[in-house]
Order: sequence, then structure tokens, then C-alpha cells
Amino acid sequence: MKSLVVYYSFEKNAKFVGDLIAKELGAEILELKLETEPKSKDYMKYYLGEKQVLMKTTPKLQPYQLKLKDFDLIIIGTPIWSGTFAPAIRTFLMQEKIEHKKIALFYCFTVKRGRISNHFKKALKGNNIISEIGFKEPLQEELELIQKRIKRWVQKLLNCMATDK
Ligand SMILES: Cc1cc2nc3c(=O)[nH]c(=O)nc-3n(C[C@H](O)[C@H](O)[C@H](O)COP(=O)(O)O)c2cc1C
Repeated sequence: MKSLVVYYSFEKNAKFVGDLIAKELGAEILELKLETEPKSKDYMKYYLGEKQVLMKTTPKLQPYQLKLKDFDLIIIGTPIWSGTFAPAIRTFLMQEKIEHKKIALFYCFTVKRGRISNHFKKALKGNNIISEIGFKEPLQEELELIQKRIKRWVQKLLNCMATDK
């Protein structure tokens, strides 16, 4: 089975989780990067990011070589922005037009997941979302706890893939 972990991460939480998932699963990694990445760590980031979400913007991604059709399982990860996925993921979903794939989702957040699950379901219509998992501020968690959760989740994904054939 070939798996891909694709994520966007603004401040490294989703990257941290995505890399651990990929390692546990033996998956390839695609880290989405914007052509113009906003500057992190200033108070404007919430304002600008939320405005982007509200306006449903699709910022341009840096080019990548991977072809999604080569993978049996695609795991998509994002920070939660204003209760949904980050604009970079919106761009990715729009440009890839993913169909008939097994998908798993992970997201990172600080307080509330909002309706991210519904937003993903709508954006990924025509696919089979086999599982999803949320991580609250993972960079501040104990590494061992995160690793244990990821191990269990990856096992669940593998079971799903094995029984779903
Ligand atoms: C523009 C913006 C909007 C956010 N909106 C939410 C939100 O609605 N709910 C929440 O719990 N966290 C929200 N956060 C916090 C991030 O989801 C959280 O810090 C996440 O772990 C960041 O992941 P990253 O480090 O991979 O970028 C927001 C952060 C930003 C920058």
C-alpha cells in the first residue's frame, strides 16, 4: 500500500504531527508551501488568516512533483483556521480535484475544532473519508503521548485499509 501525508503548517504543529504520522506509516510526505508565505509570529496573522478564510481565498502554492493517483491512501493535515482548513488546503483541494480516494484527516487547533469535519466532507465529496483525528496544541504536548496516539491511529487506518479492499 502506498500512502501520502500531505499537510500545510503555518507554525509547525501540523508539520510535527504529519511527519510523525508519515514515519509511523512509512508514507511519503508532501508539505504544501505558499508562493508567498505570510510572516509568522505577529498579531496580524490572525486577522489576515481569518480574512483569507472568510473570503475563501486560494493562495498560490509552490509547485510540487507528486501525483496523487499513485497513492492508495491520502492523509491530509491542516491547522484549524476560523473553524475550517487553512487556505493553502483549499487551493490544494481545488487544484487536485481528488475523487474516489481513501482519505484520512488530521488537524491541529488551540481551542475549538469548529465545523472542520463538515467543511472537509463537503470539499472531498466523492471520496471515502475513513478516519479523522484532532490534536490540541501538539507542540506543547508530551512527545510520548502524541506518539502513542499516532501509533494507535495509524493502526486503525491500516485495519481500515485491510478490511476495505
Ligand atoms: C488565522 C488563524 C486562525 C485560527 N483559528 C483557530 C480556530 O478557529 N480554532 C482553534 O482552535 N484554533 C485556531 N487557530 C490556532 C491554530 O489552529 C493552532 O495554533 C494550530 O496548532 C496551528 O498549527 P500550525 O502550527 O501547523 O500552523 C488559528 C490560528 C490562526 C493563525
